[in-house]
Amino acid sequence: MRYDDVSDQLDEILVTEEQLLARIAELAREIERDYAGKDLLLVGVLKGAVMVMSDLSRALTIPINMDWMAVSSYGHGTTSSGVVRILKDLDTDIADRNVLLVEDIIDTGLTLSWLHDNLMSRGAASVKIFAALRKPDAVRVDIVADYLGFDIPNKFVVGYGLDFAENFRHLRDVAVLSPRTYAESE
Ligand code: IMP
Repeated sequence: MRYDDVSDQLDEILVTEEQLLARIAELAREIERDYAGKDLLLVGVLKGAVMVMSDLSRALTIPINMDWMAVSSYGHGTTSSGVVRILKDLDTDIADRNVLLVEDIIDTGLTLSWLHDNLMSRGAASVKIFAALRKPDAVRVDIVADYLGFDIPNKFVVGYGLDFAENFRHLRDVAVLSPRTYAESE
């Protein structure tokens, strides 16, 4: 595996950096068509969306602005609490703006569903969703990924911004965390 130092903590690489970049380039062309002549504000959800935000924004050739929010999600575990708390709010007034929420992954969809409604209630002209990855449970919530990278199986993944207890975010690919790794820390 590409990550000699941590490969015993990972099971397999699920999506490679090359696949991610190729798919993001395709989606960027769609976004350029959909937002031609309109303003566009990308809102990244910290910290997981840092990598996808950086790749998506640089793949786009239309004018954009960027802002960030931080919300609480999993803490140090591997299951969703369903409780969303704003840790850092936007610096931008989004009234009448076209917002594209950029997320690393949709699991239960609770975070994005809440964020979507929260941003709409601020008077945004539109709020669409871009997610690099989506897990199968997302179908249970009424949340549509307008732009989706990859559907993945229901496994805990790390890399490309995604962490386990703040580790592994810097890996270039998306890898499955070995159940051994979280069993050891529980
Ligand atoms: P949701 O509210 O269940 O959709 O959870 C969304 C958030 O949970 C994501 O933005 C991630 O921060 C985190 N998350 C969900 N699944 C994973 C995973 O497999 N690995 C790492 N973080 C995850």
